[in-house]
Amino acid sequence: MYIPKPIDNKITIPHLRKMKQDDEKFVCLTAYDYSFASLVEDCGIEVVLVGDSLGMVIQGHETTIPVTLDEICYHGKAVAAGLRNAMLMLDMPFGSLNSPQQAIDNASVLLKATEAQVVKLEGGQTQLKTVETLAKFGIASCSHLGLQPQMVHKMGGYRVQGKARAAAEQMRATALELEAAGTDLLLLECVPAALAAEITARLEIPVIGIGAGVDVDGQILVLHDVLNVTPGKKPKFSKNFMQGQSSIQAAIKRYVSEVKRRQFPDQTHIFT
Ligand code: KIV
Repeated sequence: MYIPKPIDNKITIPHLRKMKQDDEKFVCLTAYDYSFASLVEDCGIEVVLVGDSLGMVIQGHETTIPVTLDEICYHGKAVAAGLRNAMLMLDMPFGSLNSPQQAIDNASVLLKATEAQVVKLEGGQTQLKTVETLAKFGIASCSHLGLQPQMVHKMGGYRVQGKARAAAEQMRATALELEAAGTDLLLLECVPAALAAEITARLEIPVIGIGAGVDVDGQILVLHDVLNVTPGKKPKFSKNFMQGQSSIQAAIKRYVSEVKRRQFPDQTHIFT
């Protein structure tokens, strides 16, 4: 007998919009496999991202650029198997969205294989037409502005974005255009806190931040940074939540509770 999965408590885009309206913070985290997906959801994570950060933290590459669509698909399926109600978001990897048609085709492959709810795309202004096309075909998207790791070589390194007045103005305008084009969520990475707060206040769609201050609607971090197992230098915006905790579950619950109470990020994890 066919028994469908319960969807009553599934986190949806309208659910995140309601949280924004109610000024309630939501918490996102990356995961790349079944066991961690299930564990992070049990700890209260509302949105799980299979990020192309997997190229760095799982595969050991220096950048996210080598990650393929097949790899996002593989990890997406594993994570989907571990989730019940959390929202699943998948990154569109480098080279998978060079035209609206290619993006639609590749997003469709990912969504069919994993039943994820949202695809995330870097590219801002360049992706306006793609965002509009995805929306027309009923595909929910999260646009990614600020530091865009897939453009690391063009940006000349992993640097805070939107510090100069013109760059800030450009980011504000692009965020509004992406919302008008139909994107459902916006992610801001490494953006001065005041600028992120202003963009968040001006948009109706929920804004997720990483290194974007406390006044965004939701926070996201890379799982390996939260657990302090990322080799090498740690980014300023991340925090070792394992410190003082006796288990992985306790560390992730601490992350959830600090975001919900607006204790994370504090002044030491933001950019001005
Ligand atoms: O790939 C990723 O994990 C991401 C997060 C850093 C937001 O894009």
